[in-house]
Amino acid sequence: MAILKVARLGHPVLRRVADPVPAGEITRPETQRLIDDMVETMREYNGVGVAAPQVHVSRQIAVLEVESHPRYPDVPRIPLLVIVNPVLTPVGEETATDWEGCLSVPDLRGVTPRWSAVRLEAYGRKGERMDLVAKEFFARVLQHETDHLNGKVYLDRMRDFSTLSHLTEWMRHWVRNEAEE
Ligand code: NI
Repeated sequence: MAILKVARLGHPVLRRVADPVPAGEITRPETQRLIDDMVETMREYNGVGVAAPQVHVSRQIAVLEVESHPRYPDVPRIPLLVIVNPVLTPVGEETATDWEGCLSVPDLRGVTPRWSAVRLEAYGRKGERMDLVAKEFFARVLQHETDHLNGKVYLDRMRDFSTLSHLTEWMRHWVRNEAEE
């Protein structure tokens, strides 16, 4: 496995709509290797997800994972999930706002609205069909990663940039306030 270089905002690959993966190509060794490398890269940089365009590959593949963390017991765990050619549909009308960051937009956080629940239709890494409903944080990560496959980043979803913060300032001025609410 290899740790891949992460594309940063300004690289055109992040603004392209990624190519769908033909179903027959999912189980090919090249695709499987790319998936393994994306997982390795996500874990190396402590991301909760990585989409293929973020590693300079314009294909509709993303990986997600949130491990349980002793210091953040309240963060919901997401077991490793590989999605290929995902299609998301909102479930209900409800939206929620929360902080997001992105490996391709380093050192920033911003409050981003998302659908509270989404239906995910996709292929898994063995080419199996997947159809599930995700809620809350899981739904948020799915929307963030699927956006990458459509040439969008979370900044495009923010209502305004008044909350956009550098990491150090975010820790200093926002995290404590959030915790007090
Ligand atoms: Ni991202």
